[in-house]
Parts: sequence; structure tokens; C-alpha cells
Amino acid sequence: MQMLAAMRSALSLAQHGIGICGHNPSVGCVILNSDMQLVSSARTGYNGRPHAEQIALKNCSSTINGGTAFVTLEPCAHNYKTTSCASLIVNSGIKKVYIACLDPDKRTSGKGISILKKGGLEVFLGMYESTAKDLNRGFFSRIIRERPQVALKVASSLDGKIANPNGNSKWITGELARRHGHMQRATHDAVLVGINTVLKDNPTLTCRIEGLEKQSPIRIIVDSALSIPLACNLIKTLDKTPVYIWTSKKSDENKKDQLNKLGVNIIELTQDKAQKLVLLEGLHILANIGINNLLVEGGGKVAASLLSKDLIDKLFLYRSGVFLGGDSISSVSKLDIQKISLEKKFLRFSSRELEDDIFEEWKNVDLDKFF
Ligand SMILES: NC(=O)c1ccc[n+]([C@@H]2O[C@H](COP(=O)([O-])OP(=O)(O)OC[C@H]3O[C@@H](n4cnc5c(N)ncnc54)[C@H](OP(=O)(O)O)[C@@H]3O)[C@@H](O)[C@H]2O)c1
Repeated sequence: MQMLAAMRSALSLAQHGIGICGHNPSVGCVILNSDMQLVSSARTGYNGRPHAEQIALKNCSSTINGGTAFVTLEPCAHNYKTTSCASLIVNSGIKKVYIACLDPDKRTSGKGISILKKGGLEVFLGMYESTAKDLNRGFFSRIIRERPQVALKVASSLDGKIANPNGNSKWITGELARRHGHMQRATHDAVLVGINTVLKDNPTLTCRIEGLEKQSPIRIIVDSALSIPLACNLIKTLDKTPVYIWTSKKSDENKKDQLNKLGVNIIELTQDKAQKLVLLEGLHILANIGINNLLVEGGGKVAASLLSKDLIDKLFLYRSGVFLGGDSISSVSKLDIQKISLEKKFLRFSSRELEDDIFEEWKNVDLDKFF
């Protein structure tokens, strides 16, 4: 097997683990023997354990003396319960290790490579580095920026509207686009909406693709006055995945108690001068509980608040062939900024057809700067 193909294979394995590794990065590992033949491969296990290297080393089909390992992230130098992956590799007989990128976690960063080198192995860093970082961008964001990567999902009409004047947003896009949206939920750790969306749509925000239900993200509602109805679908489905409500310190104590008793997590956030909840504070709290990737599903006001503060990293835009007109609800409501710049803020990096709809992915022009 060629070396580049081996690393691509490791990256592909890691890609399949996005959404199921908890707060851990999803890592792929491929091991070749001294004849460069494949003897093992693995990705990080469910909830982040065991690590990819541990599984791959355990499952080798033949001897790996003098072999080469390809790992998408620096092997760990720390592992609470077992030996670190770097030490396992040193003791395995492997002689060369190709690593796509360094681990930003201070407990490992550079130290994993040090263990390998001290063990007498040859180490090569940087093969497909940007692909590997991109794949675990949410993890990098949590460690480096202390907030998750934030993606805004919008299902809109051709004129950028997300609901008709009555607030009805059901069925703007078709079946395939909606299923695609459910897949986004499966690959994100948390999903967030504003309270108006809960009141209008009564969503469950779970992933309803057969077999992936367990990958439903935790659900976060931005609701300063605790207006959430106790009988809404989010609360009815608390047994499926947790609900967090971001609210103000002034919201009703009785309602807080009622919600707490039902099992809802209440998080109190500071309010700004305009009495809006400070969403960045909420994002830091999410990072503290291990959320790498957050999917914002609207509505327009929440989208506007996040965009005003430059807190949207990616856009997932689903557009359908319908016009809803000027009275309808805009995908982004009034932007709270003094001067609108016409400079491009997002770059389109992919687009495809989903039956009659168009799906586009855009990324913030500054997104790569924090690495
Ligand atoms: N097609 C789609 O993709 C899509 C997706 C989602 C929603 N929708 C539609 O969008 C409509 C709802 O959108 P919306 O713009 O009216 O409301 P929204 O964004 O869902 O909720 C806004 C509310 O969240 C609360 N909030 C608290 N802190 C905030 C902050 N920092 N920034 C912004 N909001 C904050 C405020 O209520 P409190 O002051 O009471 O806390 C605010 O009024 C519905 O009709 C829904 O069907 C469409």
C-alpha cells in the first residue's frame, strides 16, 4: 500500500467517527508491516475510547516488527486508565510513524512525538495536515478558542425567507433535504434554537434517521423568560437526549423548579444592555461540558445575534424553488451592527443538488486563522 493512500484511509476512518466520539477527537490509524502491507486499521471507539491506535495494535493480522503506522492525530502521551498510545506504539515493534497533525491538547501536544522519538522511532509530521485538522475542527475550536465550532443551518425559499408571515416553516424544502438535515444532527454534539422556533414549530430536534437515533445531539433553547411550554415535544422527548435552556438570572423561579424536576438543565446567562442573553458565554459553557460541534437551527433572531458577533463558522444552506415574499420571516433578522460591510464574510466551499433543492456549505473567511 502506498503511504499517501494509507493516510487517506486513516482519514476516511476518522471521518466516520465524527459525531460518536463524545468530546474526544475522531482519529484513524492504519498499520502496515515491513513489506508495506496492511495489517490493521481502526478508528476511535464510541465516546472516545478505546483510542484508534489501541484498537489497531490489538487487532493486527500478522507481525508488525519493522512496520509503519499512519495516524491522523498525534498519539496521546496521556491515558488515564491504560498506557499512552505513544508508549504502546514504541513497544509494538513499529519503526516509523506518520502523523497528520499535532494534538492541540496541552497534555499531549508535542509530548506524544517526544515519546516516539525517545523510543527510537522515526516520526514524520504533516501528511494531509489541513485535511486532518479540518476533520476535527470542532475539537480544535473547543481546545484553542474555548468554544465549539458553530454551524448555522438555514432552510430557505429562493428569496431567503424561512417561514411564511404566519410563522409556518414546515415543508419549505423537500424530503431528501430534510433527511440531510437530520444527518447534520447526527454529526453535531448539540443543536440550538431560539424560543420563538419552539413556540411556532414545536420541534423535537432529534435525529430520526433509522439506526442513528442514538446520535441525536443535546438540545439547547435560548429562552430568557422561560416561555417554553411544559408539554412541548422537546420536554416530552427528554428520555431520548438532554435539553438545556439558556435563560436569564431573572426568569421565574417556580418555572425553573418545574423544569428542573422534569430533568431540564437550566443555565443562567448574563444579559447585555439590550436585555439579550450573551450567547458567547453560553458557548464557553458548552465547551466546558465537552461540546465540539454546535448546529444552530434558527430562527432569524438567533441567527442575527450570532452573526452580529461573528460567531458563525459555517453555513449549511438548503434552498428550495419557492418565493415567500417580503412579509415572510427572513433567515436573518435585523443585524445589530453599526455599519454593514460589503466585504465577503463567507466563502462557498461546496454545493450539490438534493432532489429539487440546492444545498450549499459556506465557511467564515477567518475560520482557518485560529489553528
Ligand atoms: N426554515 C428554517 O430553517 C427555520 C428554522 C428555524 C426557525 N424557523 C422559523 O423562524 C421563526 C422563528 O424565528 P424568530 O426569528 O422569530 O425567533 P428565534 O430566533 O427562534 O427566537 C428568538 C427569541 O430567542 C430569545 N433570545 C434570547 N436571547 C437572544 C439573543 N441573544 N439573540 C436572539 N434571540 C434571543 C428571544 O426571546 P426571549 O426574549 O423571550 O428570550 C428572541 O425573541 C418561526 O416561524 C420558525 O418556524 C425556520
